Amino acid sequence: MCGIVAYIGERAACPILMNGLKRMEYRGYDSAGLALLEDGHIVFEKTAGKIKVLEEQLEGKTFTATAGIAHTRWATHGVPNEINAHPHLDCSGKIAVVHNGIIENFSTLRVLLERKGHAFETDTDTEVIAHLIEEYYDGNLTRAVQLAMSQVKGTYGIAVLSLEQPDIIVAARHGAPLIVGLGEGENLIASDVSAMLEHTKRVVYLGEGEVATVSREGIQISTIDNLPVSPKYQDIEWDLEQLEKGGFAHFMLKEIYEQPATIRNAIRGRLNYDAGTARLNGLKLQAEELLHVKRIIISACGTSWHAALIGEYMIEDLARIPVEVEYASEFRYRSPIVDQGTLVFVISQSGETADTLAALREAKQKGATVLGICNVVGSSIARESDGGIYTHAGPEIGVASTKAFTSQITVLALFTLLLARQRNMSLEKGRQIIDAMDRIPDLVERQLQKDDVIKRIAELFYDKNNFLYLGRGINFPVALEGALKLKEISYIHAEGYPAAEMKHGPIALIDENMPVVVLAQQDQVYDKVISNIQEIKARNGQVIALATEGDTDIARLANHVIYLPKVPYHLMPIVSIIPLQLLAYHIAVLRGCDVDQPRNLAKSVTVE
Ligand code: AGP
Repeated sequence: MCGIVAYIGERAACPILMNGLKRMEYRGYDSAGLALLEDGHIVFEKTAGKIKVLEEQLEGKTFTATAGIAHTRWATHGVPNEINAHPHLDCSGKIAVVHNGIIENFSTLRVLLERKGHAFETDTDTEVIAHLIEEYYDGNLTRAVQLAMSQVKGTYGIAVLSLEQPDIIVAARHGAPLIVGLGEGENLIASDVSAMLEHTKRVVYLGEGEVATVSREGIQISTIDNLPVSPKYQDIEWDLEQLEKGGFAHFMLKEIYEQPATIRNAIRGRLNYDAGTARLNGLKLQAEELLHVKRIIISACGTSWHAALIGEYMIEDLARIPVEVEYASEFRYRSPIVDQGTLVFVISQSGETADTLAALREAKQKGATVLGICNVVGSSIARESDGGIYTHAGPEIGVASTKAFTSQITVLALFTLLLARQRNMSLEKGRQIIDAMDRIPDLVERQLQKDDVIKRIAELFYDKNNFLYLGRGINFPVALEGALKLKEISYIHAEGYPAAEMKHGPIALIDENMPVVVLAQQDQVYDKVISNIQEIKARNGQVIALATEGDTDIARLANHVIYLPKVPYHLMPIVSIIPLQLLAYHIAVLRGCDVDQPRNLAKSVTVE
């Protein structure tokens, strides 16, 4: 969603800020702006629309400022126009603020501030922050920020610039991520490491309720109550090349093609062949504690929720522990039963999804041990979990999640192996799973080589308005994920269904204009799926089947077949999602859609 980048140093701030904004474009936004401390006054540039428009506005202008703040806004309060774009100012025009998050009590604060004579110019919740800071400012910006933010209810990550104290930028966070990047004679603040990776890899992740006073020379951190905090320095593992398209037309395509490598990364160092099990030290749980687990709840949103469903099939089948999968947005508000022996998992690529973070907090408050499966190291969910498993997929820039999904399934398979081996699974079976997992990256590679077949199918169907995706068993969540991929980037209405459920409603939709993607690999329900295909064909539906290599019979039934290698049942989704990602990608490209930044979507949903 919104993005913040701020710079204070010796170099010209404007290009650094603009570059930082571009690096965060993938997060989703609808307007952008910046403020610079230029020759004793604050200069603003703001626009509705894309950063390109802001860039055009800046053409021919030269700024010497060496300090500034910038923002991409995803509208919540007030339409996405130039006035509502950040930064926002106080009455004196001396204090500028950029903000991520939502101020829930902004209307009350606004009335109070207006009574005191503050004049508001925008419809945003953010503007109250600028006026509140002005209200408290008596020569100490850090203190004014602390006092202002203690009045605020909601979530925020902010960066504040003041004409009166031009040698500092003050940042504060509560519920929205903020990172301080440390350079030589310069420092940066950003909501996303991608905005600062070109300048430094040394960072401090601001904690909840912390305030950072950032100068050219260094940083000081305090709590909102003005207690000192010692900064914890960390190094970012990601490289700059990972933020580039590397010759691919889109980040999404690059990330689809990265999967053999990212799956390998998720497995690396975590398989113990001798013991036929997985090594997951990040869980921070003793074998004894894992043995006491009687029930597992997995909570997540979107694609991560689909991965959770696959985890449910794996864990229940192989480790025989009951699993419940909950949308985080539901879990957080329904007073879930979390008793002794319940282990809670949250899954999030970004580690910043507001609902998933709230679900984690709800479960912790109920006394559960909460583990996280995250991709972004140092993210809020990673930090607040009791332990967990990093997916190590590298930065995922395309809004449509691809490589994060296969990595999440991979680590869920590792976790399942660990649990199952502790319980009922034989050493031999454990070793078979390890062998199969070792082969998966190569099989994914082979699948990617069939891109041409998938592109040809996309050319036949890209102008359709509806798609149905059907799967059974562990392939049902894959059908859900295939449908989600298509709808989010191509804007085609698509539904995922358990294949047998089709008869209970969706079959009414089937005619010659309805493409139906059917996951029909040879597993224990293969014959049932074939019957479902017959039902579709009897109604003139167009079937695109995903079938096991060597299954020539299916070609007589389905209109199109995409072949997949034979993979053990529980690992099938890692391979069967690949053609569905590619199908969605090609269809979206053929429809001329903005694949990496689909309309209305944000990469990480940091508001409810
Ligand atoms: C995936 O393609 C989506 N963009 C979205 O559903 C996403 O998976 C969801 O918002 C959860 O994000 P997270 O994994 O970062 O928590």
